[in-house]
Amino acid sequence: MFNKKNKELNIPNHIAIILDGNGRWAKKRGMPRTYGHQKGVENIRTIALAASDFGIKALSVYAFSTENWKRPKDEVDFLMKLPAEFEKKFKDDFKKYDIKVMFSGRKTHLSDKNLEILERITENTKDRQGLILNICFDYGSQTEITEAVQLISQEVKENKIKPENISKEMITERLYTKDLPELDLLIRPSGEVRLSNFLLWQAAYAELYFCDTYWPAFSKKSLEKALLDFTKRNRRFGGLK
Ligand code: IPE
Ligand code: IPE
Ligand code: MG
Repeated sequence: MFNKKNKELNIPNHIAIILDGNGRWAKKRGMPRTYGHQKGVENIRTIALAASDFGIKALSVYAFSTENWKRPKDEVDFLMKLPAEFEKKFKDDFKKYDIKVMFSGRKTHLSDKNLEILERITENTKDRQGLILNICFDYGSQTEITEAVQLISQEVKENKIKPENISKEMITERLYTKDLPELDLLIRPSGEVRLSNFLLWQAAYAELYFCDTYWPAFSKKSLEKALLDFTKRNRRFGGLK
């Protein structure tokens, strides 16, 4: 794949983005944090369409973490309206681009209404062949791994698995992301340099990319910059090249 300046791009199969910096983006403009979240949601569409144009197979976005419940109630309440927003705002474009949407996260803390919306979006888009957009909502990597351990323990208890036969593949297959390609590139905008409990297992050999842009301002150009950087990386996976 070549970009407009004819630079060759190595296109990753699976990229993940931590949607960070909404609050600071809004504050800089003298607006409430929720305004930043509003713009942040709209930007998921922009970047999903861009990722689809670049030929990326899967895009995981971190939209609400298991730790984000600690925020003030009015902010959490606002963020809990996001699934309804996804459904209303993304429907037409995602259909046009043949985007399949899935959700990763805990299913124990969300309202029945939100679970219903997530289920409906997943069901309505499940046969699509284009980009897979994995929206991580009430997602926490440690919870995801804990749930996988619980599933395996249950199978051990039922004598379906012997403890000594537990493999890393068996763990991978019990994560929310089991149907996605291996993670190649993890992007965190907003200047923070940490993973904040996102895709810890999946990121074992992902390339990490940090930039200062706040998520609402992260554009197709910003994504292209990350892809150019990724193209230059020398991935060795522990071997020699
Ligand atoms: C990311 O933006 C959105 C969520 C975590 C839900 P933030 O709300 O964390 O914005 P900053 O980091 O405070 O600027
Ligand atoms: C990570 O951002 C979570 C999401 C973007 C959904 P945070 O803003 O919650 O992370 P910390 O608190 O800066 O680590
Ligand atoms: Mg933040």
